[in-house]
Amino acid sequence: MKNWHSKLFTPGPTEVRPEVLQAMSTPQIHHRSPEFSELYAELQPKLQKFLYTDQTVFVFTCSSTGVMEAAVRNTVRKKCLNLVNGAFGARWHQITKACGLPCEALENPWDVAIKPEQVEERLRSGEFDAVTLVFNETSTGMMNPLPEIAEVVKSFPDVLLLVDAVSAMGGVKIEFDRLGLDVLLAGVQKAIALPPGLTVCAVSDRALARAEEVKPKTYYFSFPVMLKYHKKNQTPSTPSIPHLFALNAQLDAMFEEGLEKRFARHEEMASLVQAWAKKHFDIYPEEGYWSKTLTCVKNTRGINVAELNRTLVEEHGMRISNGYGDLKEKTFRIAHMGDLTTADIRGLLSTIDMILGL
Ligand SMILES: Cc1ncc(COP(=O)(O)O)c(C=O)c1O
Repeated sequence: MKNWHSKLFTPGPTEVRPEVLQAMSTPQIHHRSPEFSELYAELQPKLQKFLYTDQTVFVFTCSSTGVMEAAVRNTVRKKCLNLVNGAFGARWHQITKACGLPCEALENPWDVAIKPEQVEERLRSGEFDAVTLVFNETSTGMMNPLPEIAEVVKSFPDVLLLVDAVSAMGGVKIEFDRLGLDVLLAGVQKAIALPPGLTVCAVSDRALARAEEVKPKTYYFSFPVMLKYHKKNQTPSTPSIPHLFALNAQLDAMFEEGLEKRFARHEEMASLVQAWAKKHFDIYPEEGYWSKTLTCVKNTRGINVAELNRTLVEEHGMRISNGYGDLKEKTFRIAHMGDLTTADIRGLLSTIDMILGL
């Protein structure tokens, strides 16, 4: 069989360890069996510890986009403020509109972070009861100031904060309860380092109560339906059981490494790539908001990014990502997330140095 694999330095899917792949091939169990409920019950406290919460954590068998839709369908009663400074912020606005929910975008240029004062000013209108924020914009390598924005949203008691932490969860500490978040979602194929197909989603008691009021026009993505089954340690429909085995194993591995150590490793990998990018190129988003899990490098040398990636894949078995959408060739992205190590990052950077003659 052809070897399709290159080592992934892409911002999702990311490299998956053989032990995790092995956990995915655990012999099947039935999703209405006591064994499944045992697995589900075992996962819940681990997910709560991982997200620093005593509240509910759901697992959806779908990619993050589905749960972005779930988040707005279950919580928007009046109007949603979509914070947009990148492709995924824009996607959440599109999703909210497509669901027929009243919404408005607060847009910044893609290299400018969303500032808490901007959010406060719009929320003061009293029009909104939900806000969507992409914490780590994978399209631009921008890490928006989540704690500061959460602090602002907290001062508006009727407003729920829905956070896409897709490319941050598992690489950066996110304290769900302390920050007062209402929805926090992430697909598992990024810093959690599993294959794609499952999304973890913490939901506050407030958001669950809101969903009861809203009566969302959805079944697959309904929080009340999810909760009914969650209480029985089940999911409403057949979940991706292999993913749940793998998630269970990966959470154990994360605790074994130590969450703080895992986050420190991500900081260290980010520093390496940022220093390299500043030395040879530049970094796309404004300083002070650089992502800890991926770096979006400004192509100030005008290199052929597609050609660089082709050489990396064909001759060195490594893959990075070109810029996203209109940023293609103008930028390129190096992910430093999941189970990658500083040695992996050093190896990648020295290989790029060699290819480009830096
Ligand atoms: C920040 C962010 N949000 C949402 C998504 C959408 O994820 P998916 O395509 O897996 O649904 C992505 C995918 O890269 C992402 O990076």
